[in-house]
Amino acid sequence: MAYLQWTENLSVGVPRMDEHHKKLVDLINQVFDAMSGDAAAAVDSVLADLLDYTRYHFAEEEKLLAACSYPDLEEHQAVHRSMVKEVLDMRSRHLDNPASVTASETLDFLSKWLMRHIIGKDLRYRPYAEPVSGGGAA
Ligand SMILES: [Fe+2]
Ligand SMILES: [Fe+2]
Repeated sequence: MAYLQWTENLSVGVPRMDEHHKKLVDLINQVFDAMSGDAAAAVDSVLADLLDYTRYHFAEEEKLLAACSYPDLEEHQAVHRSMVKEVLDMRSRHLDNPASVTASETLDFLSKWLMRHIIGKDLRYRPYAEPVSGGGAA
C-alpha cells in the first residue's frame, strides 16, 4: 500500500508551513495504519491527534497569512473551518460504526482532503508569504 507522501512540488515557500504539512501527511498515514488494525480505540485516538494538529496548523497558517496581508485570508479561513468539520463528521461516523469506514476509503478521503487544499489553496499564498518568511524558519 502506497502511503501518502509530501513532495517538493507541494512546498509553499515557508519552511515551517512545509514541516506542518509533512506532519499532517504523517498523521494521515498513521490513521491508515490504525484503521488497517482492529482497534477502533486506536483509530479514534489518532483521528483526535489529526484534528488537534490540524487546528494548530490552521491557526498558525492564518496568523502567517494575516502577517503578510494575504488578500484572500477570509476565504482561506472559511475553507479551514469546513475542513475541520469534514474530519469531525468522519470521526463521528467512525465512532457510531467503526465498520462503516474502511482504511483505504479513509486514506483516499484524507489524501484528497489535504492535497487538494495544499495545491488549490495553500500554494496561492506562496508569493505573499515566501518573501516575508525570508526562506528561514518562520
Ligand atoms: Fe491552508
Ligand atoms: Fe496548510
